[in-house]
Amino acid sequence: MSALVEVEGLTRHFVARRSVLGRPTALVRAVDGVDFTVAPGETLALVGESGCGKSTLGRLVLRLIEPTAGRVRFDGRDVLALGGRELRAYRREAQLVFQDPYASLNPRMTVGDIVGEPLALHDIVPAARRRDRVAALLHQVGLAEGAGQRYPHEFSGGQRQRIAIARALAVEPRLIVCDEPVSALDVSIRSQVLNLLRGLQRRLGLAYIFISHDLAVVKHIADRVAVMNLGHIVEIAPADSLFAAPHHPYSRALLSAIPVPNPRARRDRILLQGDLPSALAPPPGCRFHTRCPFAVDRCRREPPPLVFDQRNHAVACHRTTELPPADVVPRETGRSPALERLIAAFGASADVRAASGVDTVGSTSGAPDPGLLKGMHS
Ligand SMILES: Nc1ncnc2c1ncn2[C@@H]1O[C@H](COP(=O)(O)OP(=O)(O)OP(=O)(O)O)[C@@H](O)[C@H]1O
Ligand code: SF4
Ligand SMILES: [Mg+2]
Repeated sequence: MSALVEVEGLTRHFVARRSVLGRPTALVRAVDGVDFTVAPGETLALVGESGCGKSTLGRLVLRLIEPTAGRVRFDGRDVLALGGRELRAYRREAQLVFQDPYASLNPRMTVGDIVGEPLALHDIVPAARRRDRVAALLHQVGLAEGAGQRYPHEFSGGQRQRIAIARALAVEPRLIVCDEPVSALDVSIRSQVLNLLRGLQRRLGLAYIFISHDLAVVKHIADRVAVMNLGHIVEIAPADSLFAAPHHPYSRALLSAIPVPNPRARRDRILLQGDLPSALAPPPGCRFHTRCPFAVDRCRREPPPLVFDQRNHAVACHRTTELPPADVVPRETGRSPALERLIAAFGASADVRAASGVDTVGSTSGAPDPGLLKGMHS
């Protein structure tokens, strides 16, 4: 199947400091030469520590910000060459849903007007049929009849996220960049919103670029996963393959933070040593070498390219073929008390859920604590 989105060498540097004459003296290399594709109807998840460039990458694909270098193609068209009407048309086809739905909903507009606004803006439905279309959209995202007459503050967080999704769907997009779409939601309603996103994807053939810290959520929703470190993709693979056997040392550490349900089969978390380098001054060679337990001299000199195997599993590591299997990677002795508490909580609640048959996705206990992921370097 030909790709809906094709990204090549995508790069965005931000100026962090300027001289008194206004010349840039320090750059944040937020996204630094990224390649990937997304097929129609596919979910590609972007994961990685805070500040690794996930949101910047999502915004570059939508052309909400301009790249420093690289290409983005959408359905064969060069997105960066679009202007005027064509760019407006692209804004219809590629939408954004982000973490804080409340911030994106005008508190002075009714929900009906919020969802109806893009219909008018893009002239999608004649004025006389807009009310019916808004009602159909609200129904599609599971909101009760009459929701259109109410204001955003009258809804819960999960309902507001449904309103934001209805508004994104109004323009009949083919791609939605979901930037931490369920992170702000109560754990009890995360599954509902995720299931809604999946249901809509199946019915409407939507592609998602799904950004999340929560690896349990990613495991549930992603077809493929791209792992990012300091502006680079270090591994990209089908989700099953990545979760079964992460190859890159960074992915191994990241995935080791997901608690497993069976306490007897629990795995040790890999605690990375060394400071998290800054995107302001990324290390030369492999950007992970300051924290990698397998680093050799070559890693400090040469950046490793992303190399695909026959199963569409790509890794950027000089030593991929020499590394021990993931389950015999040297581990830190002892685990952090925070992780112990998380694993204990998961074990207990998993038993309860198994007895009640409740969906476990996105529960507090099934998801790694974002603080733990962010704290991997601490
Ligand atoms: N407008 C900007 N100006 C300067 N630096 C920026 C800007 N936007 C992002 N950055 C920097 O670029 C890097 C990547 O930021 P980005 O928001 O893409 O990270 P992220 O992976 O989405 O993080 P998080 O998981 O915390 O949302 C960070 O170092 C950030 O400080
Ligand atoms: S290239 Fe070297 S430093 Fe980078 S992940 Fe592989 S072994 Fe570690
Ligand atoms: Mg972000």
